[in-house]
Amino acid sequence: IKLYVPRDSAALALGADDTAATLAAEAARRGVAIELVRNGSRGLFWLEPLVEVQTAQGRVAYGPVAAEDVAALFDTLLAGAEHPLCHGLTDDIPYLKQQERLTFARVGITDPLSLADYQAHEGFAGLRKALALSSSDIVQTVLDSGLRGRGGAAFPAGIKWRTVAQAQAAQKYVVCNADEGDSGTFSDRMVLEDDPYMLIEGMTIAGLAVGASEGYIYIRSEYPHAVAVMNQAIALATAAGFLGDDILGSGRAFRLQVRKAAGAYVCGEETAMLESIEGKRGVVRAKPPLPALAGLFGQPTVINNVITLATVPVILARGAAFYAGYGMGRSRGTLPFQLAGNLQYGGLVEKAFGLTLRELLHDFGGGSATGRPIRAVQVGGPLGAYLPESQFDTPLDYEAFAALGAVVGHGGVVAFDDRVDMAEQARYAMEFCAIESCGKCTPCRIGSTRGVEVIQRIQQNENRPQQIHLLRDLCDTMLHGSLCAMGGMTPYPVLSALNHFPEDFGANDAAE
Ligand code: NAI
Ligand code: SF4
Repeated sequence: IKLYVPRDSAALALGADDTAATLAAEAARRGVAIELVRNGSRGLFWLEPLVEVQTAQGRVAYGPVAAEDVAALFDTLLAGAEHPLCHGLTDDIPYLKQQERLTFARVGITDPLSLADYQAHEGFAGLRKALALSSSDIVQTVLDSGLRGRGGAAFPAGIKWRTVAQAQAAQKYVVCNADEGDSGTFSDRMVLEDDPYMLIEGMTIAGLAVGASEGYIYIRSEYPHAVAVMNQAIALATAAGFLGDDILGSGRAFRLQVRKAAGAYVCGEETAMLESIEGKRGVVRAKPPLPALAGLFGQPTVINNVITLATVPVILARGAAFYAGYGMGRSRGTLPFQLAGNLQYGGLVEKAFGLTLRELLHDFGGGSATGRPIRAVQVGGPLGAYLPESQFDTPLDYEAFAALGAVVGHGGVVAFDDRVDMAEQARYAMEFCAIESCGKCTPCRIGSTRGVEVIQRIQQNENRPQQIHLLRDLCDTMLHGSLCAMGGMTPYPVLSALNHFPEDFGANDAAE
């Protein structure tokens, strides 16, 4: 019997190692020969540990399978009977079947560290194409695909690459920002742990496109499994000739190293990240100069998020038109959305831009986990706006969200039910900024602390109208006067809470 048990840290946190060990022990006890593959996660977290069994029809899913379920699972498997935890063919589970997995096509299917498995599933097809193209043709392909930065800012990747490609320098770099710090997000982590060669392939293609021979992956220290898998994958890919001084006999070089981040949210800001890689304190640099012209060690540097780089192989392999065929407006392709917070079915949903928030929350998320109405949803991390129910029909598209004063960001979706206190969420946004501020500029360093105090006064009903006026003024200063997105976007959650949920700020109180 061929069995799959994920090694992704979401599955591990839910006992996947115990399940795998018990499966092996139970098979030995019964004298049944099994092949146990430790695959990545399919991203259906409520079913983890998700055990899959290979059949002639395809892989059949059982979940969540705890160690104590294993004996009964063997009984039914050997008897050819139905098991209560069986969900049928994995690919037919509606949550998966309704997705459009381009970047995540292999995730959960393959053994993350098997180069043979990777190549059997279209792995390195993009790199092989890129090796046959000129640098400018690779850049043009990425431009034509419409791919925009998936870290959150949505800057066109091809324009960034062209800037670096045209810069003159003896040494250029490709840096992958894997300091995934947004609340409720995990798509970067899944790529790092579950399909590491895809990121290696994307970064190598970026290196070929811009003329960079060195790359760094900056991974948050809270992702120990990701760091370990990436290091192993780099060693294996280098030994097999997919990375290193002579990529697939082409005479071209690209070398990769992992750098472990030190736990500061602001080190996900690209210039603070560069400081950190250079061994300095993670303080934001003023722009210009853009990192594309003067980045790591002062040299031209491509900095992209994990998902941006991981999407490059499929674009090269299938062509720009294929990728651009998905999406709406200027938001081309797909985004791996991450469903978290108070939802029944949390997990990874890769879909083309254009579906609505309501579809994500209800068709995929299954509504709130508590069964109560969903009152607010924060999209795009702790610096993203809160959307009320009246905005749930907004299509997930960068421009449609910007028009509402919101962001799609890195695709994190965190749901709250009707018991949420939005004034408290606003206070928390200011507190988060006060804790994580790098301290370089005044609106953020001091404004966030004053913001916590002002919101506390509103919560305690101290001179509310005046304090609300002051809060709006402060948000305006932070929005327009901060050096980076940390201080510049903190007003998004604060103002959206205030504008859409004024009752939580005492708007209906008789005392006013
Ligand atoms: P930005 O808009 O300043 O820059 C976006 C990117 O485009 C940068 O890499 C910048 O260097 C580059 N760029 C801009 N103009 C360019 C040009 N003319 N040529 C070449 N490159 C150019 O945004 P920033 O500050 O880098 O990112 C803010 C975003 O980060 C927010 O929207 C937020 O959603 C996201 N974010 C994501 C987090 C995560 O965990 N993924 C955490 C915190 C924030
Ligand atoms: Fe630092 Fe905050 Fe200013 Fe950004 S906005 S540079 S985090 S002080």
